[in-house]
Amino acid sequence: MTSPDDAGFPDRTRSGDDAELRRKLYGGTVFLLPATTASRLLVDYARDCLDEEVGPDPRTCHERYGDEELFERVGRVRRRIYTEPTGQRLLRETAASAGFPAAETAFDPARLRAIIHGAADNPRAAPVYYPHRDTWYGHPGAVVTIWTALDDLDPAETFVFYPERFDRPVANDSEIFDYDDWVSRGWSLKIGWQDRNASLTARYPQVVGREDYGPAAGFSCRAGEILLFSGSHFHRTLRQDRGLSRFSLDARMVHLGDYAAGAGAPDSDNRSRGSAVPDYIQPGTDI
Ligand SMILES: [Fe+2]
Repeated sequence: MTSPDDAGFPDRTRSGDDAELRRKLYGGTVFLLPATTASRLLVDYARDCLDEEVGPDPRTCHERYGDEELFERVGRVRRRIYTEPTGQRLLRETAASAGFPAAETAFDPARLRAIIHGAADNPRAAPVYYPHRDTWYGHPGAVVTIWTALDDLDPAETFVFYPERFDRPVANDSEIFDYDDWVSRGWSLKIGWQDRNASLTARYPQVVGREDYGPAAGFSCRAGEILLFSGSHFHRTLRQDRGLSRFSLDARMVHLGDYAAGAGAPDSDNRSRGSAVPDYIQPGTDI
């Protein structure tokens, strides 16, 4: 795995205006930008919500709760951050602070990700570790993912990109994914807070066969730093087996002007159906 800062990955500085930032994102640049007031508030809010459910040291929550109870507790936090106004407002402000102004940007609210220590061998958690592109879940080439961690993390605790596959096809079964079908039974499946066994029955896009995807590029980060990357990037979450669970927030967003103009990253192998964009929170929506 490429170590952090090798070959300037990820790019820690942005130059130019917001349009230039988006142009680079659509071209495959991954940015890790400094924490902002808004991103710190978002992380503090998420951490407070989490503390209420799993105690003041969330990273060791797996020592205090069994599988099922932890799923329920983390699920409640997930639902709260995704659906309640505070999380949505703080995400909108965080996006704006990173170059995606509220008046021009539609977004899917933030999801709390819990990569639980030792959970990678649990079949219920399997889809979390599938290498994938976010676009395979009914998102357009213009989608940009915004991600931030609740803690300082080293490269083994985050996830990896396969930059060589950004614009080159990967064998996959994204044609199985139909966004409208996915949300037709309510949003619990989409946000993943209710049905612990959903991943055993629902099918999620994944790679087909084995290929050499080229070198993996990882990164370290500080809590609240803002990672931005195109949803067309091929990436994979790393299993956590060192005694600490990992918590992060991520959301997808689209610059509506670019989307309307057909701008965005290459979309080389995405055959998912339907579009998540109409369900995004649109500019001007009161939160
Ligand atoms: Fe992803």
